[in-house]
Amino acid sequence: MTDAKKIVVETKNLTKIYGDGDGVCALDSVNLTIRAGEFVAVMGPSGSGKSTLLNLLGALDRPTNGVCMVNGQDLAKVKDLDRFRSKAVGFVFQLHNLIPTLTALENVEVPLQEENMSDAARRKRAEELLGLVGLSDRLHFMPAQLSGGQRQRVAIARALANRPAIVLADEPTGNLDSKSTDEIMDLLRDLNHAQTTTFIVVTHNPAVARAADRIVTLRDGRVLRDEKIDNVYLEDLREFKQSALGHAILDGNVPAELSEFGVEQIAAPVREVLRRV
Ligand SMILES: Nc1ncnc2c1ncn2[C@@H]1O[C@H](COP(=O)(O)OP(=O)(O)O)[C@@H](O)[C@H]1O
Ligand SMILES: [Mg+2]
Repeated sequence: MTDAKKIVVETKNLTKIYGDGDGVCALDSVNLTIRAGEFVAVMGPSGSGKSTLLNLLGALDRPTNGVCMVNGQDLAKVKDLDRFRSKAVGFVFQLHNLIPTLTALENVEVPLQEENMSDAARRKRAEELLGLVGLSDRLHFMPAQLSGGQRQRVAIARALANRPAIVLADEPTGNLDSKSTDEIMDLLRDLNHAQTTTFIVVTHNPAVARAADRIVTLRDGRVLRDEKIDNVYLEDLREFKQSALGHAILDGNVPAELSEFGVEQIAAPVREVLRRV
């Protein structure tokens, strides 16, 4: 990623306080710059402000303070927010939010309704999109006839329909088993490469975050860490750090029974690495 890439998201001191007076400060002076084509995972414990951030970026909610620029537009100055959302932003939620009475194809056509295109062109585009997510053989299935992973694929096709500048996904694999999770993340990664769409994906799942090339970690509404991932094993290391052996290495008490494996010799450098992640 070169710095010459266009900036698609820029926030300055973005702040959201719910309620008034001593309300909850869900987002506290967040400064973020995201460039076209980036795949950003947003992590952090429950209640750290992840959904609030996504809602502000997608103009689903207004900030209390600060500036939020998306695709060159200051959201505070956008007159027609519905139009902004349908043009610039694709949303994928944890629950797919498909319309249950419409087929997969019809669901993907919904965001294309406002486009000035013929019925045939709309259908063709929706078919292409479902092809892109591997569902060419499920065009006329109803949501209830699809698996969780397939429904989420339809939701992704729908999110991409208007070629948005950014796709915002809030725990898109939160309801899926690990196999479907891997498949959906591979798909998002492929789409990110193929379409150069910018993805901002909220996740709890380190395996999901591994697909990203940058991880922004929130804590209490603030950016705790903002890391480019040139080390794809970062989340593996963090997981290891939380394990019994990780703790033992950090504390400098490698269990005696492991000494025959030479763990002590590598303990010192591993400790240094674990301290940093
Ligand atoms: N509509 C709301 N009204 C009041 N407080 C809210 C509302 N939405 C979220 N919050 C609070 O804001 C904080 C951040 O919430 P959220 O952004 O949903 O966190 P996350 O998605 O990381 O779990 C939490 O303390 C939450 O209780
Ligand atoms: Mg959330």
